[in-house]
Amino acid sequence: MLEAKTIALRYGKHLALDGVGVAIAAHETVVVLGANGAGKSSLLKVLAGLVRPEPGAVLAFEGQSLLGRPAHDFPELGIALVPEGRGIFGDLTVAENLQLGAHPPHARAHEQRQRDLVLELFPRLAERQGQIARTMSGGEQQMVAIGRALMSCPRLLMLDEPSLGLAPIVTSELFAALKRIQSTGLAMLVVEQNVKASLAIAQRGYLMEAGRITGSGTAEALRADPAVQRAFLGGVA
Ligand SMILES: Nc1ncnc2c1ncn2[C@@H]1O[C@H](COP(=O)(O)OP(=O)(O)O)[C@@H](O)[C@H]1O
Ligand SMILES: [Mg+2]
Repeated sequence: MLEAKTIALRYGKHLALDGVGVAIAAHETVVVLGANGAGKSSLLKVLAGLVRPEPGAVLAFEGQSLLGRPAHDFPELGIALVPEGRGIFGDLTVAENLQLGAHPPHARAHEQRQRDLVLELFPRLAERQGQIARTMSGGEQQMVAIGRALMSCPRLLMLDEPSLGLAPIVTSELFAALKRIQSTGLAMLVVEQNVKASLAIAQRGYLMEAGRITGSGTAEALRADPAVQRAFLGGVA
């Protein structure tokens, strides 16, 4: 469904991505693991069209090249990103945030259906539709961010550190919601610090280090990998 090869990204002289390749199949959930500064957010930004890779990259979605397309084409093609820090409109209500998510032309026709889906996935948002987003808890704001992304009818949903800063119980609710979203049939690419929980919902994963992919495998293989255990799972399986 998504194919990225030889992706390089520079911030001035700094090479943040150095020949990165990832692939995601339809309906698949893939996790990207890596330390701070490895380039995970940069990779998601390239895949969401927010930054442009260096020449020589391959980036295609459902057989169409994404290179050179403006950022607003990406949601229209079915790619949505929930960015790190959520990026919701704090001064707007929950309902307004959701409505803005349905902005891509292809999504407008399905606005009601998607809203029903979002409110079913996150009943708390149904009770809080008139609430100003910034007055909500971190976990609720993350639901708004994910809900807004779902309003664009994505076929690929990308999430950058969705559990960051959330209490353990809220994190388990979040992962339960991601599992339900997964069962609706869309593909997901998740960057997470919570390695255990993300490997539990993913079929496959990639390891990133210093702007490169240094490993990949099924979630099961990654869980059993001593290097993954040492680096991310506190040394125990
Ligand atoms: N806008 C930017 N300008 C300059 N350097 C950046 C910018 N964004 C990220 N970087 C650098 O690129 C590298 C990768 O960052 P990032 O993709 O945010 O990593 P991660 O999400 O894995 O923590 C880091 O060294 C970071 O400091
Ligand atoms: Mg990041």
